[in-house]
Amino acid sequence: MKTATVSTPGKIILFGEHSVVYNKKGIASAIDKHSTVKIKENTNEFISLFLKDFNIRTRIRIEEAVSFAEEIKTLASEKKFDQIKKLSKNPINPIKAVIGTTINKDKNPSSFDMVISSRIPKTGGLGSGSSVFAGVSATILSLSGNRINKKKIAENAYLGDVIAHAGTPSGIDTSTVTYGGFIEYKKTTGVKPLKIKSPLLIVIGDTGIPARTKTAVTQVRRMLEEKPLQVKRVLEEMDSIAEEGIRQVKENNFEMIGKLMNENQECLRGLRVSHPKLEKLIKASLRAGALGAKLSGGGKGGIMIALAESKAMQKKIARSIENTGGKAIITTIGVEGVKREGL
Ligand code: MEV
Repeated sequence: MKTATVSTPGKIILFGEHSVVYNKKGIASAIDKHSTVKIKENTNEFISLFLKDFNIRTRIRIEEAVSFAEEIKTLASEKKFDQIKKLSKNPINPIKAVIGTTINKDKNPSSFDMVISSRIPKTGGLGSGSSVFAGVSATILSLSGNRINKKKIAENAYLGDVIAHAGTPSGIDTSTVTYGGFIEYKKTTGVKPLKIKSPLLIVIGDTGIPARTKTAVTQVRRMLEEKPLQVKRVLEEMDSIAEEGIRQVKENNFEMIGKLMNENQECLRGLRVSHPKLEKLIKASLRAGALGAKLSGGGKGGIMIALAESKAMQKKIARSIENTGGKAIITTIGVEGVKREGL
């Protein structure tokens, strides 16, 4: 019986969350925190799933997963976002959809046992879901002897985020965790690897308050319907910030990157996706000397990131975040994307 283990990183977004949903530019990076998916072919009628961190076990028929994936694609194309949002409450659903869409394209699907676990904090904002979705697709593809095909994996994982983000994900999360490194992203043109000269020194501050990505994305969509001129202006502003961010990241101009992060945060405040605890940690980081700080990911909780000019400063910012009631994480960024272990 064939087996495979795949490990996939989480992610942070340096510029452009929410505006990327509307085809604006974004910059993101993979981080050195991973999820692991193990697969073992079986001869049963059922796919058996074990979500270790949630202690959930379930069994799904192949045909059921395939038709569920089709149902989600139809709901998304008909813009039935409220129905998708309801389905997102069950953590099995996005995984079932990714399994279904991956298997559907396989000529000889086999049944399997799958075990999923993760070391990516689940507060949200660090791509814990997207990382698992990419891992799920990659393990299934490797059962049929396929080498890691990042384009296919990112495409399949995207359907998981359609559910997790309630209808209209940009694809930045699933692309970042799949391709790894630093990427420039735009919905219609996809991923472009971004070369950086020396690593950015980032501190992640975890609020401990679950991010509410679905709610935040839905809220921005409604705001755009209600106040199109005002919101479009903010989205345009975010696009220019990301565009300038790309230039400054290439130039290694940390001071400018920090300044742009603060400006990006101001736009995110305008979209009302921040949270008092995020603001507290952002202030604490800036007080400690961060060059810039902003929320990262969906917001309304979750995590923020701060940029430091030195390792000593990174530690100082981390202490300040911890003293303000957050959990500081210092980790390597720009790491490799989805990969099969033991090869
Ligand atoms: C969430 O990590 C990023 C958002 O822009 C949603 C998306 O891009 O799908 C808020």
